[in-house]
Amino acid sequence: MSFTSVEDILEGRCVDEHVSVRGWVYRKRESKNAIFIILRDATGIIQCVIKRGNLAWAEAERVSIESSVELSGTVRRDERAPGGYELSADEFKIVGLAETFPITKDQSREFLRDVRHLWLRSRKLTTIMKVRSETLRFIDDFFRERGFFEVSPPMFISSACEGGATLFGLKYFDRDLYLTQSAQLHLEAQIYSLEKIYCIAPSFRAEKSRTIRHLTEYWHAEAEEAFTTIDDMMCLEEDLVSHVCQKVAEKCKKDLKALKIDPQKLAKIKPPFARITYNEAVERLHKGGFKIKWGEDFGFNEEKALATEFGPVFVYAYPREIKAFYCKAYKENPKLVMSADLIVPRIGELTTGGARIDDKNELIERIEEFGLREEDYDWYIDLRKYGTVPHTGFGLGIERLLAWMLNLENIMEAIPFPRTVRRFYP
Ligand code: 4AD
Ligand code: MG
Repeated sequence: MSFTSVEDILEGRCVDEHVSVRGWVYRKRESKNAIFIILRDATGIIQCVIKRGNLAWAEAERVSIESSVELSGTVRRDERAPGGYELSADEFKIVGLAETFPITKDQSREFLRDVRHLWLRSRKLTTIMKVRSETLRFIDDFFRERGFFEVSPPMFISSACEGGATLFGLKYFDRDLYLTQSAQLHLEAQIYSLEKIYCIAPSFRAEKSRTIRHLTEYWHAEAEEAFTTIDDMMCLEEDLVSHVCQKVAEKCKKDLKALKIDPQKLAKIKPPFARITYNEAVERLHKGGFKIKWGEDFGFNEEKALATEFGPVFVYAYPREIKAFYCKAYKENPKLVMSADLIVPRIGELTTGGARIDDKNELIERIEEFGLREEDYDWYIDLRKYGTVPHTGFGLGIERLLAWMLNLENIMEAIPFPRTVRRFYP
């Protein structure tokens, strides 16, 4: 038996045809002479009507919300039906009869997170997960079109990339290892053969802060490129972010509409983004009444204020103390490093990237300055011994990108099974 997708019906390709559909019972309503079932499949929802006296009646009467079913019937155009089409069913088969579904209307967000495995069926999460899938594809397309190779970094690592404070330790046989915070160091090793590379992989952060933008496990799109400068990198980043926004605006219209997002707003995201130095940013913030001192990192509020003023904005040339050990310093002002954050409205920091130290001695000095153990980074230092090159790279949080594009309240809504300090079930 072949099955028609709900989308095919809603797009008017099956009018007056007899078709079979399958999916789950999303809503059910019964009147004296008819049972109305809203059926959902991966592509949409459609109203199905079963008339009293029809052979399908008994099964339709028995079926419960979230049961899986197969239905056959004739497609009719019907203004009153959501989506404008209705299936008048004459065959009804229950595949898996559902017990009473625990999710009903108006339940707390906490409860919905406890039953995330079931809440994933909601219209909202279904829609977000579709856009997520497309977003991952658009990122892939972007990098591949530009000649980047996709690489697969390790998740078990023996030394930190982004500092000890957010490192997850684990027992690895009789050794202590960590879960990766960023693929960057291992990506750097691969530019010596592939030059331009990227990956989309999980990163882990022992992040105690409970905010709308922190997960302990998130998906990280990272790129690294040989023979580049920080300016090249900012151009690459703004092109990537704009590409994804344009593509989502173009290809995910229905999903955006369901999420009440105007595609025009996304289509307007185009390069170049504003660029300001850390020093300029601090000045702006002082004018806006912020008390931040030079040398301090921006908090969420500072970032939001900057992005409200500029829209997506790169802040670059940070004090070296607040950036990671591998950041390359400016020759003319070694207090500052070639690191850039892309900051966007509402979410704040979306990416961090920059130029990496490419000189062996400078790297060793910096490792010491940061109180790290040189022997933990021997292999990383090696990369500067054999054919070192100036190079840059960046990392972008996928969930933050989605939360920004889709105006989500919390990045937890952008990942199927969010992990935070308190949440690791289901
Ligand atoms: O700013 P971060 O820590 O930079 C790095 O990890 C670099 N090594 C990346 C690189 O150059 N290859 O993380 C990069 C991005 C952030 O800008 C943010 O979007 C996201 O990763 N991110 C998080 N997303 C969700 N939850 C968290 N706890 C995150 N921490 C960082
Ligand atoms: Mg950062």
